[in-house]
Amino acid sequence: MTTQPQHLTILPPDLDIQRIPRHVAVIMDGNGRWAKQRNLPRIMGHQRGVDTLKDLLRCCKDWGIQALTAYAFSTENWGRPLPEVDFLMTLFERVLRREINEMIDEGVQIHFVGDLHCLPASLQAEIERAMEATQHNQKIQFVVATNYGGRREIIQACRAIATQASQGQLNPEDIDEALFERHLYTAGICDPDLLIRTSGEMRVSNFLLWQVAYAEIYVTETLWPDFDRRAFHQALLQYQQRHRRFGRL
Ligand code: IPE
Ligand code: IPE
Ligand code: MG
Repeated sequence: MTTQPQHLTILPPDLDIQRIPRHVAVIMDGNGRWAKQRNLPRIMGHQRGVDTLKDLLRCCKDWGIQALTAYAFSTENWGRPLPEVDFLMTLFERVLRREINEMIDEGVQIHFVGDLHCLPASLQAEIERAMEATQHNQKIQFVVATNYGGRREIIQACRAIATQASQGQLNPEDIDEALFERHLYTAGICDPDLLIRTSGEMRVSNFLLWQVAYAEIYVTETLWPDFDRRAFHQALLQYQQRHRRFGRL
């Protein structure tokens, strides 16, 4: 690990340590636009986006955030041109292989959520290896949503529950929110407190539909590759000014 200047690793004094979100989720959008602004191919934006994610993960760890979920590839992203999809799949695999040792050393527990069976076999193998190698790490939970779709997640939970019911292992009356959550990809991970979307789009694009029920939403015009510690600091400052009511007064 490269050593960070001390002032960057400690929590900025204007943030309230008592009100740090437990779980931050990010829709990492704007890689293509970032590249376009520089007359570069879109893939360069994705490449740069990986560095941004790595920095954010480290920042979350430094600032005491317990979980970071990153939207890496949606179930709809297969509709992009094949060379871009191929590039992304290869990039995920390459980055995972390159970063795994550092994640082990830094106490990162990596977890993948999504319909992983549709991913290239070599990527699936790398994912399995990474999840297993980091399963006992406790510094931070790093959740990567890959071939993830909120609707698909809900459907697969319904199927699993319906199967159990049809086999007589479960009464329909026993289905409640807690049981349902145990069948989501994110079982055991607390809901995000803060959902960040970069590059200005005001939509959730099929991300964590169930889990963001009470997340605070922060949208910034900053394009994902430019979303640095300073930008994250701004998001946290705004988060800490929000009054979370959860339907109460
Ligand atoms: C987000 O950036 C990364 C992925 C969806 C994989 P985009 O590729 O969507 O970038 P824009 O939105 O075209 O700028
Ligand atoms: C959302 O970004 C998916 C990821 C960040 C992986 P998109 O760029 O795919 O979303 P839309 O198409 O603008 O809704
Ligand atoms: Mg986009």
